[in-house]
Amino acid sequence: MTAVDDVRSIEAGSAPTRFARGWHCVGLSSAYRDGMPHGVQAFGEKIVIWAGGDGALRALDGYCRHMGGDLGNGQVVGDDLACPFHSWRWGGDGRCQEIPYARRVPPRARTRSWPILERNGHVFVWNDPEGKPPADDVTIPVFDGYGTDEWTDWTWDELLVKNSHSREIVDNMVDMAHFFYIHKGLPTYFKNVFEGHTCTQYYAGTSHEAAATGAPIDIGRFDGQSTTSTATYFGPSYLVDWLENSYGEMTISSILITTHYPVTATSFRLQYGMIVKRIPGLDDDTMKTVAQKMTALIGEGFLADVEIWKHKSRIDNPLLCEEDGPVYQLRRWYEQFYVDVADITPEMTQRFEFEIDTTRAVESWQSQLVAAAQTGATASDEPSAVGGV
Ligand code: FES
Ligand SMILES: [Fe+2]
Repeated sequence: MTAVDDVRSIEAGSAPTRFARGWHCVGLSSAYRDGMPHGVQAFGEKIVIWAGGDGALRALDGYCRHMGGDLGNGQVVGDDLACPFHSWRWGGDGRCQEIPYARRVPPRARTRSWPILERNGHVFVWNDPEGKPPADDVTIPVFDGYGTDEWTDWTWDELLVKNSHSREIVDNMVDMAHFFYIHKGLPTYFKNVFEGHTCTQYYAGTSHEAAATGAPIDIGRFDGQSTTSTATYFGPSYLVDWLENSYGEMTISSILITTHYPVTATSFRLQYGMIVKRIPGLDDDTMKTVAQKMTALIGEGFLADVEIWKHKSRIDNPLLCEEDGPVYQLRRWYEQFYVDVADITPEMTQRFEFEIDTTRAVESWQSQLVAAAQTGATASDEPSAVGGV
């Protein structure tokens, strides 16, 4: 019998009860521009978002401070939001602008407004448990050429993940091996860089199908591979993946977004979508089909991840081998969003780089695929996910 001292135990810990500080994407801006208020369940609360008559988006706490009416069922009047219960009119700054039946508005008629940002066709809400506005350098990048003919429109899908925490998604940023076992990918280059509020994964690889032919695989090079992906988290939840997929002579460039916001401390809404760079000579419908197909494939990949998250244990002390990525350093980076700004330590934000030597993994995976092909087992087709998750 193995002595108890020799056995590794799982330290499961517990999920944080506070929610990450940062910009959280809550969907496409077009979805909020239908003249209606939208209730969003996020950060353990309810938020209401609407576009005023001037077109600007606004976000407030979802329940009216008068008698608790659900503002998500209200009406947009001019730039303000009228509560469905007694029609108090709330402005985007959180102040009650008017009470149609009253002589005057009580001076304390003020509710909480949430900082809101619109960028690249997405809407972001700023969450900060300390109640401070975002620092200027903590923002979301503008995508070159977005909104022009250069790119297709966003595809967009979402799913609610229950009984889990977003740390599981973020962990995948450094998890090279799961791309082989869960997503039918074969990573040949894998590197992470953490710095400030960003965390990047450089991934290059090939497919099971290509590897199964036994053709030599170019290991350790980022450029020139059939799939290359540079995926960066800007803050705790918005992952931008600049993706290049080559099919023979043709290369498809796309931007894949994977983003989540917490609904409660133990559930989150995962959203994903992409824009594809138009290829000269291909018409709009074809481009749209390409984007939809790729998004569907990515969706399959997420379901495979979710299946793992649904059944796995939370683990604060993962047991790692050399070919695993820097899970502990990644979690230290992620921790910065869960502590007060004054408690952020240099270890959480200083630049950190780590490249995995993929030589042994690729050799082993390729021989496994070649052997399977020889026994008649067909290798699966395209990878179902790259870009961090
Ligand atoms: S509860 Fe909103 S106006 Fe009365
Ligand atoms: Fe994954």
